[in-house]
Amino acid sequence: MKADGMDEKGLSRRQMVIGAGVLAAGTALARFGGWPGLAQAKDGTTEKWPWPYEKLDPATTAELAYQEWYRVFCGAAVISSVFTQLREKVGEPYRSFPVDSFVFLEGGLVGWGTVCGSNAGANIVANLIIGPRIAGADAGHQIGADMLQWYSDTPQPVFMPKEPRVKTELVKTTAESPLCHVSVGKWMQASGKPLGSPERKDRCARVAASVAYHLVELLNDWKDGRYAPASAWSPAKEFGITGQPNCVECHGADIPAPPMAQKT
Ligand code: HEC
Repeated sequence: MKADGMDEKGLSRRQMVIGAGVLAAGTALARFGGWPGLAQAKDGTTEKWPWPYEKLDPATTAELAYQEWYRVFCGAAVISSVFTQLREKVGEPYRSFPVDSFVFLEGGLVGWGTVCGSNAGANIVANLIIGPRIAGADAGHQIGADMLQWYSDTPQPVFMPKEPRVKTELVKTTAESPLCHVSVGKWMQASGKPLGSPERKDRCARVAASVAYHLVELLNDWKDGRYAPASAWSPAKEFGITGQPNCVECHGADIPAPPMAQKT
């Protein structure tokens, strides 16, 4: 489909029929669900996948992510919420994994507003546990993609911690993007709250918690062998450029065409 097949909200017709695609994807369940093999260790390394995973409680994980946001911020908070529990339940390799080094994911990667750190953290967790695509572990890659899609489509923040630091109700906004800049910017515009406000901070802590919650739901499904991919966005093949689906939102009606001859 060409880029001009977009509706006014910038969603392609293809995106709208993805519901049907999800059904078809269900037939691929055997391939994606509960991948059983260990990756072949490369010469001279001890790399192994999948990492041992025990099912976790999504709400407990989300509470941990919420608390950790105030210490290590979005990306590392998501990683910490899952891995601190697996340190207890499983031990290694989680005990020696340097969670705090991922503070750099904050603010969409060292404050540059690129991918929201929560999404980056979720992708790191899924791929460490399940393994990389190049080792045949498609579900890690797919869960990562599902997280971006879910984050983009869902009014956030979803999760309400038991004892939120900011007691008032927070405005929910749908980012229609996995980018920190877009997600935070739309929320600031809707709420009228600046970046440094307690409300914006609590919003991002709750978003990290929401992402951790959904991530664990998907990992638990995978562990049970009933994970089915929910997203099927493949821009490189379809549009000849990496990107998110809603081209119109940024480009308006005049979506530039990439040089298709060079597409890979
Ligand atoms: C989050 C905003 C955003 C979205 C969504 C987006 N783009 Fe872009 N894109 C940009 C920016 C910014 C540039 C660089 C400046 C420009 O050209 O507008 C760019 C550049 C490009 C270029 C390089 C050529 C050029 O004229 O700059 C192509 C091709 C392109 N985009 C196609 C697409 C397509 C196709 C989609 C949807 C699948 C898309 N973009 C979605 C923001 C976006």
